[in-house]
Amino acid sequence: MSLKDKLDLQRLPRHIAIIMDGNGRWAKERGQDRLYGHHEGVESVRNIVETCAELGIGYLTLYAFSTENWDRPVYEVNGIMELLVNTIRREVTTLSKNNIRLTMIGDMNMLPPQCQREMEEAIAFTSQNTGLNLVMALSYSARWEIVNAARKIAQDVKNGTLDPLAVTPAVWESYLCTAGIPDPELVIRTSGECRISNFLLYQLAYAELYFTDTRWPDFRQENLYQAILNFQNRERRFGKTSEQIQQNEEIIS
Ligand code: IPE
Ligand code: IPE
Ligand code: MG
Repeated sequence: MSLKDKLDLQRLPRHIAIIMDGNGRWAKERGQDRLYGHHEGVESVRNIVETCAELGIGYLTLYAFSTENWDRPVYEVNGIMELLVNTIRREVTTLSKNNIRLTMIGDMNMLPPQCQREMEEAIAFTSQNTGLNLVMALSYSARWEIVNAARKIAQDVKNGTLDPLAVTPAVWESYLCTAGIPDPELVIRTSGECRISNFLLYQLAYAELYFTDTRWPDFRQENLYQAILNFQNRERRFGKTSEQIQQNEEIIS
C-alpha cells in the first residue's frame, strides 16, 4: 500500500520547500566521489517534482546551491554547475509538457554565463505554464536576500518613491526574491541535519519543519508522502490557543 492513500488531498500544503542535503555523504558511504551523489540527487529531484505536480501542489522550492556553497572546492562547484546546465537543458521540455513553471530565487549574476543563459531560457520557455510552480534556489541565501531588500527599500526612500511609514510586512515582502510566492507551509530537510542553513529566514516564520535522516539521493515519492502525512497530523496554531483553532475548524466544517 502506498502512503498516498492515507493523505487528505483536500489539506495538502500549498507550498513545500526542501533543503536537499546529504549528496556528498551518500556518495562517500558508497566509496564514490561527492559528485556522484549530486548526479544521483538529480533523480530524486525528477521524482519529487513529478510527484508534486501529480498531487497538485502549488509551489515547490528546492534549495540546490547556497551562497556559502561557492566556498566549496572548485572541482565540486564546477561539477555542480555543469550538472545544472545539463539537467536544465535535458528536462525543460518535460517540465513544459507537465505544465510546470520554472522560476529562480538567488543571485543569478553569480552563476557562470552558460548557466545563466540556460536558466533564463528555461524560465522564459515555461513562463506561460499554469501547473506546479518550481522555484529553484540557486546561489541563494536569506541574509543576502534580506540585505538586498533593505538596500532597495533605502534607495526608494532616498528617491522619494517610498515613505518609510508605508513599509508594512506586505511592502517588505514585495522587495524579497519570493515576491508573489506564498510562504512555505512545509519545509523538509534530508540527511539528518536539523538546521536551516540560511534558507528563507523571513518566509519560514510559521512553516512546519520536518527533518529526516534519509539522504537526498534516497528521498523519493513515498518519503514525500510520509512528510506530508506528518504535516497533516500537526496543529498549526499561529500564536492562538488550541481551543480557538478547533472552534474555527468547527465553524468552517
Ligand atoms: C546537498 O548535499 C547539495 C548541496 C549543498 C549542493 P551536500 O553536498 O551538502 O552533501 P553532504 O551534506 O556533504 O552530505
Ligand atoms: C544547505 O546544505 C544548502 C543546500 C542544500 C543547497 P549545506 O550542506 O550547504 O549546509 P550546511 O553547511 O550543512 O549547513
Ligand atoms: Mg550538506
